[in-house]
Amino acid sequence: MKITSAEFVMSNSDVAKCPKEPLPEYAFIGRSNVGKSSLINMLVDRKSLAKTSGRPGKTQLINHFKINQNWFLVDLPGYGYARVSKKDKKIFQKYITDYFAKREQLVCSFVLVDIRHKPQPIDLEFMEWLGINGIPFAIIFTKADKLKPGAIEKYVTTYLQQLLETAWEEAPPNFVTSSANRTGKDELLAYIGEINQNFFENKN
Ligand code: GTP
Ligand code: MG
Repeated sequence: MKITSAEFVMSNSDVAKCPKEPLPEYAFIGRSNVGKSSLINMLVDRKSLAKTSGRPGKTQLINHFKINQNWFLVDLPGYGYARVSKKDKKIFQKYITDYFAKREQLVCSFVLVDIRHKPQPIDLEFMEWLGINGIPFAIIFTKADKLKPGAIEKYVTTYLQQLLETAWEEAPPNFVTSSANRTGKDELLAYIGEINQNFFENKN
């Protein structure tokens, strides 16, 4: 799929205020600093459409970006971000969970995990929660430029093996990416293109 336009639409912390149009949307979630906002920029070929930072906690709201006039990418704050106060963290988590539980337009969630870290309980718990709630998701391994190709393959195999041993009967769709050297861009856009096509075919 070719990206012909990408525009920021709105930021908010209330799922009820998100865009009303019945267009398919894709949310990016994962721990702070995993590279959610950078990946959105990489996919749409824009340097700073989504705000990024070396310091965790940059993205604070639900951010909608309209792509090619007919679908949305959604940048979310990181879960499990330790530097916000306990009270803030609670509100933060609640509106994120609300977004996932209530957003009808959400056709796929991308759970991002840093390819340098072994499976983290917070990611595994979140995937399990998505599963229980019937929310489709795919895993995106980020920052692949930090590993050698052989190590990438080994990491992915081990990660998926652990999922199969603990919670899942089937491995979820998964992608290896690097926003630094644009790895995985075509594969991800093709995947989104396919889901979009199904979405629009089933609607008509
Ligand atoms: P929050 O909004 O705080 O939750 O973070 P985020 O997940 O949106 O991460 P962000 O895209 O802001 O990136 C965090 C840091 O990781 C930045 O310093 C990025 O430059 C760096 N980064 C992101 N993607 C990559 C990548 O593919 N490779 C490398 N080497 N660094 C990356
Ligand atoms: Mg961000």
